[in-house]
This record gives sequence, C-alpha cells and structure tokens, in this order.
Amino acid sequence: MRTIITYGTFDLFHIGHLNLLKRARSYGDRLIVGLSTDEFNLTMKNKVTAIPYPDRKEILEGLRCVDLIIPESSWEQKKDDVQHLQVSTFVMGDDWVGKFDFLKEHCEVVYLPRTQDISTTEIKRHIEKGNQGQLRAVA
Ligand code: CTP
Repeated sequence: MRTIITYGTFDLFHIGHLNLLKRARSYGDRLIVGLSTDEFNLTMKNKVTAIPYPDRKEILEGLRCVDLIIPESSWEQKKDDVQHLQVSTFVMGDDWVGKFDFLKEHCEVVYLPRTQDISTTEIKRHIEKGNQGQLRAVA
C-alpha cells in the first residue's frame, strides 16, 4: 500500500485542484488531503476562505481520488503526519517547489506542474471585476 499526501485550501474548488488531486492519487493507492482550516488560512496565510472548512471537506470527500481528509492547522505538522500516516510520497503543486525538500529524509517529495490560468485568487478577481465570460484553464 502506497500512501500519498498533499496539502492545500481548495477554496472555490476548480479544475486545477482536480487535476492536482487526480495526478497525486496516481502515485499510489491511497490519497490523504491535509485541508487547511479556516483559522490556519486566516492567521498563517492571511486568506479569508469563501467556503467554510466543513463544506470544503465535504466537496473533497465526494471525489473518487480522495481517500482521507485531515485538518491542516500548522506548518509544522507535516513531518509528524508523514511519519504517523506512513506516507510514501508527498505531493504539492510546483508553486511550492523546494519548500518541502526537508521531508525527503522521510518520504519521496514530488512537485507537480500547476494547471495554467486558473486559481482561487483568479476566480475571485474575475468576479470582483464583474468580468463576463469564462475562465479557461490549460491542463
Ligand atoms: N494547484 C494546481 N493548479 C492550479 C491551482 C492550484 O495544481 N491552477 C494546486 C496547488 O499547487 C496546490 C493545490 O492545488 O498543490 C491546492 O492549491 P490552493 O492554494 O488551495 O489553490 P489555488 O487556486 O492556488 O489558491 P490561491 O489562488 O488562493 O493561492
């Protein structure tokens, strides 16, 4: 059994999130998502989530590629999670490249290319500007 773990907020769930999760799951047999809590977002990432944690969790639970969700409430928990959950591979999008290399002594660390032209920030900006039309993501 190969266990994969990834972390993120997954607010206003979009195609870039789905691509990342499906590709992460393909590295093993079980995908765990460390889902950033609302408080962690606010205090550590300076972001207000549009969708509250219980709803973001329920959306992820509805996906075939996600097996387990745990709360992410601190930057420091990753090493403990990797050890306690017997993680084989830690996956993040390449906006985080190099940031989690310190986990390499405990598991494989993989940074996947992000889906271009889509992000939660971009969706919020699009709506704020009152833009007509659709955002187009490139896989
Ligand atoms: N991700 C991705 N492609 C995108 C957007 C996100 O692969 N276009 C990945 C991130 O690299 C991360 C995970 O999805 O590994 C969760 O990212 P998150 O920060 O929750 O989403 P963003 O859309 O990047 O949110 P924000 O704009 O608030 O930073």
